[in-house]
Amino acid sequence: MFNFGKKLTLGLDLSDFSLKFVQLEKNKKGFSLINCVKEDLPVGLIQRGEIKKEKELTNIIKGALRKIKRRPFGNREVVCSLPEEKVFIRVIQLPLMKEEELGQAVGWEAEAHIPLNINEVYFDWQIIKRPVNQSDHYNILVGAAPRFLVDSYFRFLKRSGLKPIALEPESVAVSRSLIKVVDLTPTILVDLGASGTNFVILSASAIYFTSHISISGQLFNRAIMESLGINEKKAEQLKIEVGLDKAKEKGKVYQALKPLVEELVNQIKDYTAFYQNQSSRLSRPDGVIGRVLLCGGDSLLNNLPSFLEQKLGLTIEIGNPLVNLPGATKGSSPKLSSLSKKEILTYTTALGLAMRNLED
Ligand SMILES: Nc1ncnc2c1ncn2[C@@H]1O[C@H](COP(=O)(O)OP(=O)(O)OP(=O)(O)O)[C@@H](O)[C@H]1O
Ligand SMILES: [Mg+2]
Repeated sequence: MFNFGKKLTLGLDLSDFSLKFVQLEKNKKGFSLINCVKEDLPVGLIQRGEIKKEKELTNIIKGALRKIKRRPFGNREVVCSLPEEKVFIRVIQLPLMKEEELGQAVGWEAEAHIPLNINEVYFDWQIIKRPVNQSDHYNILVGAAPRFLVDSYFRFLKRSGLKPIALEPESVAVSRSLIKVVDLTPTILVDLGASGTNFVILSASAIYFTSHISISGQLFNRAIMESLGINEKKAEQLKIEVGLDKAKEKGKVYQALKPLVEELVNQIKDYTAFYQNQSSRLSRPDGVIGRVLLCGGDSLLNNLPSFLEQKLGLTIEIGNPLVNLPGATKGSSPKLSSLSKKEILTYTTALGLAMRNLED
């Protein structure tokens, strides 16, 4: 009501070191980015995805909301992220059966696959692929998140004056932003952020596998600090200015970062081999990962794409979080025009969250 064919929505990407709001509008022309706000968070408010200091965080959220100029009429609906390291997502296979029997079967299978106590999680599932003949199977995407975490996010969002309409793992939001529905190339998506790295394997544009490891922008900073004997602020500055450029700073920053980036390479190799293995077991024709798609602030490290390409022999691309937002092109809104490509990339998760509420 009172939105005259326009629909506004908020996405909130919460992580240990920052929060990001994105406000999107869906209108006749497509989508407009109305606003986005980023606030750095003091250490300790959120730790490994768990909210530790609710009151302080609520004050920061309220401050950020005041910066969002256009308010939905009395509607503060928000889709908020859930930390990847605390959730569990897998594709499970089930034999041909009646769809009304699937719920129970998924429950049993999920119990076997989810490394968490089934009584202490919320879980959800959706069919990704239906069997096409008697010997074929269902592919079902199963997600689980600890109840205490989901409950604490809901409580905190409501106390901050927001209406949480969904909580969604970072991997799901990032995939919605970066992967075109028509894009069938098996892809590994790497979200390299301040507090960790999330991996998502997508096959036929559907999530197949997700994982989280502790390699992060913070670890990059620390490696530079220790190697060069400098403080964190200076280390972060060098990370951004030099990155993996061997020619700068006598190669010292490169040498400090190299072991961590090589660990990243090894992880990507393991995941691509895992996918290939699984696919050949299922005789799938699309069994080989064709490219790596990067997002997250630390994916902007100078020379990271060429380093990865050389070590992996795969196509490396930097993601475009506007790819599924027709109409949201530079010049379509003053806010979007004011952002550089690099800045837009750091809003990938928040954009994907906001888009969820605008899906038809
Ligand atoms: N040009 C750059 N080169 C390298 N790193 C950069 C650059 N710009 C920003 N960063 C780093 O990006 C990180 C912030 O990225 P991002 O906003 O994606 O993280 P986050 O979402 O808060 O963290 P996470 O998702 O891991 O919880 C910081 O570590 C920052 O130092
Ligand atoms: Mg992030």
